[in-house]
Amino acid sequence: MKSSRYAFIYTIGCQMNVYDSEKLASILNSCGFEKTDDMDKADVVVCNTCSIRHKAEEKAYSFLGRFSRIKKTKPHLITVMAGCVAQQEGEKAFERVPHLDIVLGTQAFSRFNRHIQAIQSGSSRIVDIEDSPAIYESLPDSSTFEENKVSKFVTIMQGCENFCTYCVVPYVRGKERSRKPDHIIEEITLLAGSGVKEVTLLGQNVNSYGKKEGEISFPELLKKINQIDGLYRIRFATSHPKDLSMDLMHAIRDLEKVCNHLHLPVQSGSDRILKKMNRGYTRQQYLDKISELKRQCPDISLSTDIIVGFPSETIEDFNDTLDLVRAVEFDSIFAFAYSNRSSAPAAKFSAQLDEKEKLDRLNLLLQLQEAYTEKKNKEQIAKTLEVLIEGRSNKKHDGYEFFEKNMEQMTGRSESNKIVHFPSSRFKIGDMVRIRIENAYPHSLWGHPELN
Ligand code: 5AD
Ligand code: SF4
Repeated sequence: MKSSRYAFIYTIGCQMNVYDSEKLASILNSCGFEKTDDMDKADVVVCNTCSIRHKAEEKAYSFLGRFSRIKKTKPHLITVMAGCVAQQEGEKAFERVPHLDIVLGTQAFSRFNRHIQAIQSGSSRIVDIEDSPAIYESLPDSSTFEENKVSKFVTIMQGCENFCTYCVVPYVRGKERSRKPDHIIEEITLLAGSGVKEVTLLGQNVNSYGKKEGEISFPELLKKINQIDGLYRIRFATSHPKDLSMDLMHAIRDLEKVCNHLHLPVQSGSDRILKKMNRGYTRQQYLDKISELKRQCPDISLSTDIIVGFPSETIEDFNDTLDLVRAVEFDSIFAFAYSNRSSAPAAKFSAQLDEKEKLDRLNLLLQLQEAYTEKKNKEQIAKTLEVLIEGRSNKKHDGYEFFEKNMEQMTGRSESNKIVHFPSSRFKIGDMVRIRIENAYPHSLWGHPELN
């Protein structure tokens, strides 16, 4: 029988939160709530929060602020704050959001259904931010599968013990712990059986997968996933440069389903700042790993994360970062202005930069990278790329008029993670096609399917 009660989940932040939200949806489904995209219809509203930067946290509070108005007209509505801000704030969350019912920390998922039932039976204000050494395990629930989804995230480990001085993750996501290989394989086999063609394996530092548990290593896990029938592609994030091993480089080189792409956050190009960030490598060590990677895996596409305006960052430090970006020639970067997080040690560092200076540096960095992104995209022209079709395109991307009248336009990604648009009526979502690239735009490529 179809449920007539609905759950609306609003997700802020990283890919791991997208995965966690699916788990929350599946728990709510087992409590009799069907997932809805219409918040007005909802009987449960969950905000799955992120606290990595101030902006993300504010976004959560501004969303949650709407609860008090809705609760007035819909008193039975159950409101939940989940994830990193919930973990960080605990009881304090009620001061800013008085109409909240449940504060659900990052390690409390296994108890979520109990809390929902307690609220339904009349309890009020439940806070669960207990540490839990085990990972919440559940298999994907087919009722929460999105139609036509060809690519899915799969969390393989949680927590982080690297303690980079700017970062809240070790404080809100707890100690590093890895899922059992068998559970991961079972989950991905199920996904592949339901039509998923690509998985992105998630962890704060996938290179230390299984180390604590004495289980198989990350490259060994990749080898096992590579054998799953029906799966075409494997991606993963994030690798920490200090732990990037030769075995992993070989796995990228040798395993046919593992994409020739690596996201390797550098954070800064200055040795002085890297030390203050507690990153555990020098600029030269990072560059050496990149050279080895390019030697082992020619044509590998590279992306990174960079923080500008870390406390005490001088113009010379910032120039070192720009120089590193010039030296590596990343395909893309994710750049952030340093955001002060009170639970992270850097909040107490001296010589904090003002917001304008941070934004000026951010803009300079983004401008520099734009030229490399364009260069990397142009290098694809006249090449034939394997593209996994993710959907139909109905917009004019990048502002260019490349659409062909009377032809269906499709979109997908290359192995190097570049967006490719092409006209075709022959293919369907989930197909892998060979596309000859004819044009490159700032954020995408355009071509035609190869004739065969
Ligand atoms: N300020 C700005 N960016 C941050 N990141 C993590 N913490 C902060 C912070 N306090 C960035 C890092 C990380 C990415 C996920 O978010 O670059 O790799
Ligand atoms: Fe944060 Fe550093 Fe851990 Fe990444 S490795 S989650 S930046 S502490």
